[in-house]
Amino acid sequence: MRRIVISKLGSPEVLKVIEQEKLMPLDDEVIIRVNKAGINFADLMMRLGIYGKTTKIPFTPGYEVSGVISEVGKSVNGFDVGQRVAAFTGVGGYSEEVKVPANQVVSIGDDISFETAAAMPVTYITAYHMLVELGNIRDGDTVLIHHAAGGVGTAAVQIANAFGASRIFGVASSGKKKFVEGLGMRFIDRDHEDFVKVVKDETNGAGVHHALDPVGGQHLKKSFKALRSGGKLYAFGGSSFVRGPKIFKPTTLWRLLRTPKFSPLGMIGKNKAIFGVHMGTIKDLDLMRREIEILVEMLNKKEIIPIIDKVFHFEDVANAHQYIHDRKNRGKVLLDFS
Ligand SMILES: NC(=O)c1ccc[n+]([C@@H]2O[C@H](COP(=O)([O-])OP(=O)(O)OC[C@H]3O[C@@H](n4cnc5c(N)ncnc54)[C@H](OP(=O)(O)O)[C@@H]3O)[C@@H](O)[C@H]2O)c1
Repeated sequence: MRRIVISKLGSPEVLKVIEQEKLMPLDDEVIIRVNKAGINFADLMMRLGIYGKTTKIPFTPGYEVSGVISEVGKSVNGFDVGQRVAAFTGVGGYSEEVKVPANQVVSIGDDISFETAAAMPVTYITAYHMLVELGNIRDGDTVLIHHAAGGVGTAAVQIANAFGASRIFGVASSGKKKFVEGLGMRFIDRDHEDFVKVVKDETNGAGVHHALDPVGGQHLKKSFKALRSGGKLYAFGGSSFVRGPKIFKPTTLWRLLRTPKFSPLGMIGKNKAIFGVHMGTIKDLDLMRREIEILVEMLNKKEIIPIIDKVFHFEDVANAHQYIHDRKNRGKVLLDFS
């Protein structure tokens, strides 16, 4: 069995394939023979050493996988060898075989492909948690999505539509206009347009009900401005701290220091809310389980359809990371371990 390991931080070339010993499940765990593993932007940030409390090296990245159960721990109920599943792995997903607590695993129907199942866990639960659980999105609401063509972005537009959003603004790089429009969003060019102006101009000066901001830093101020009275801003990332595929800490630090501080009085005065969101640190596992079960149900009913851009062979993982650094992805990027 092989897995990908990061033994030193840096550019995508630090991702190396190594052999690993056969895994044995603890009583409450299952072993999954991985078919596909999802790549998330957070994996790139971890590789650069700028992801919050970064995991100690050496480590194997990978938040999510799909595959088939190959072994079941003694106290596990409801899962059998041979069952097709998707799972949250936290770290460790970039591997031919993973061991995961059974409560982080969900069964998938035979008509759901391994690609679809691996593309779903992180992006959809993040979008669902923000818009539905925290945001209580309703019929007629308006939504602003940054990185609209990416993993979370393409999930968020589907969730927003499923819950009745009337207008969705999608901000992305210039070359992605057609793709973003194809998903039913009003495209805003991140490099050449002022998204606050576009949103205000096209909502009679009001602004949006929900703004999803994974960019962070000073950008949050602008997203806050784009909200209408009663609007909600979700701060859930720091992509502006990533300056290309190499470690460049001075800029990162500078951008981090420039993250705005919002005054509660200002929020009261403007009737606007800000949520900080990090799915990786949510302690309420029952809530997470409920959310993922709803999403699997929506998937089965084809109310959500993950958009997969590209599947790289796992030995080509450095190019897969570089592809995302180059902002080329339209939807989700996966690794193939089949
Ligand atoms: N808090 C949470 O629990 C949570 C969970 C999942 C994801 N996230 C965050 O949500 C964001 C999206 O995650 P994702 O996994 O779905 O990734 P993604 O959106 O597929 O990421 C790639 C896209 O991000 C945009 N981008 C912006 N700044 C970039 C930079 N410095 N380098 C490369 N690309 C950049 C590019 O699109 P454009 O140039 O077209 O914008 C690129 O195509 C990330 O910031 C991630 O950390 C947070």
